[in-house]
Amino acid sequence: MSTIIYPTTNLKHTETLTVEKGEGVYIYDNKGNKYIEGLAGLWCTSLGYGNQEIIDAAAEQMGKLSYSHMFGGKTHQVGMDLSEKISAMVPVDNAKVFFGNSGSDANDSHIKMLRYYFNAIGKPEKFKIIARDRSYHGVTVASASLTGLAPNHTHFDLPIDALGILRTDVPHYYRGKLDGESEAQFVERITNNLENMILEEGPETIAAFIAEPITGASGVIVPPAGYYEKVQAILAKYDILFWADEVITGFGRTGNDFGCTTMGIKPAMMTLAKQLSSAYMPISASVIRGDMYEAMIEPSSQVGVFGHGYTYSGHPVACAVSLKVLEIYERDNIFAKAADVGAYLQSELQKFADHPLVGEIRGAGMIGALELVANKHTGQPFAGGVIGGYAMQACQNHGMITRAVAGSSLAFCPPLICTKAHIDEMMMKLAKALDDTLAYAVKEKLLVA
Ligand SMILES: Cc1ncc(COP(=O)(O)O)c(C=O)c1O
Repeated sequence: MSTIIYPTTNLKHTETLTVEKGEGVYIYDNKGNKYIEGLAGLWCTSLGYGNQEIIDAAAEQMGKLSYSHMFGGKTHQVGMDLSEKISAMVPVDNAKVFFGNSGSDANDSHIKMLRYYFNAIGKPEKFKIIARDRSYHGVTVASASLTGLAPNHTHFDLPIDALGILRTDVPHYYRGKLDGESEAQFVERITNNLENMILEEGPETIAAFIAEPITGASGVIVPPAGYYEKVQAILAKYDILFWADEVITGFGRTGNDFGCTTMGIKPAMMTLAKQLSSAYMPISASVIRGDMYEAMIEPSSQVGVFGHGYTYSGHPVACAVSLKVLEIYERDNIFAKAADVGAYLQSELQKFADHPLVGEIRGAGMIGALELVANKHTGQPFAGGVIGGYAMQACQNHGMITRAVAGSSLAFCPPLICTKAHIDEMMMKLAKALDDTLAYAVKEKLLVA
């Protein structure tokens, strides 16, 4: 065993796969085994591995200016170009961009900018943030507090209350519905819950509502029709900002440029990372509305500095790589192609509807999940996370990387450059893995009659 403390890993079960190289939509381990990427790394390698144009862009920038910071008035052209490009792409009015290194730190930056902004406009009491149950927003102290998943909270004693984080329902009809409740009634009930919580807390104390337009780590939950419409109407009524965490859904993942477009959301703030650089370099962007930024200028001048920034905020190599990635998205029509292949992925996943283990199939565009259940007819979940882990390993045994999320859901998030033939290859492996998993569940008596 090496001396690494592994991230998001059972520390009793480390170093199970050593990845050695990547090519296109495949990775290879140190024993020469080949795997198709069913999850684009961690929902991020949109353009696959070994893209020479991106490698050249990085090398060229390293040769020209390998590092320069952005503190105290310094800037560089490649950073300004990237910021302009992002501002022009996002559905945020007069968007301004703060650069960071990861989705987690970008969400932290957003919390700090929210506080800065509301202090600036004389509303210091307006700092609470509504986050949803089962959401995933990262793992720094603040972003893990936004996250609504137990494994990211347990043993960490996070300052959830101190940060003013409130929790509302996850819009997952399959798991959250009451007996006999229609989808429309479910939406009505959970949005009423949201409004009641806002009234109980006091709208004047709540700054923002954060949501992944379509979730990732909580099992790829696509909210029912009408949900975001109702949520946005409530937020507008009480002057609460919509903050879209697009770390997974940004850049062509859900069949459109952004998850907000797919789900009809008009956000005031947006978190971007992952596919911004196709994961060739770590970089994130915390995007806010122009008027929010304008309000922050004077207070920074009083202090002498906007006292927030990272050594690597706007790292020139990460910016050059991201600019090249955005250029490729546009030039090669990547989002439209991914929408086409994504529709195919969704229809192929639906073919598993009759499999005895499959309870619900969810997704949009190039992201999807199968929820595996102990009783197909009642939807009773498997106890613990054993089945998800087993199915994920079975996929790996058949040469495909995927990811078990939220216990027993198997997630798919292939690179955007995948073809329909790649999807066919994945589905063939999935069929075998599901049959292996069913045999295991029968043998271990895990199915419930
Ligand atoms: C929606 C969302 N937000 C934030 C994050 C955190 O990003 P990072 O792992 O880059 O810190 C993730 C990571 O998967 C995510 O899915």
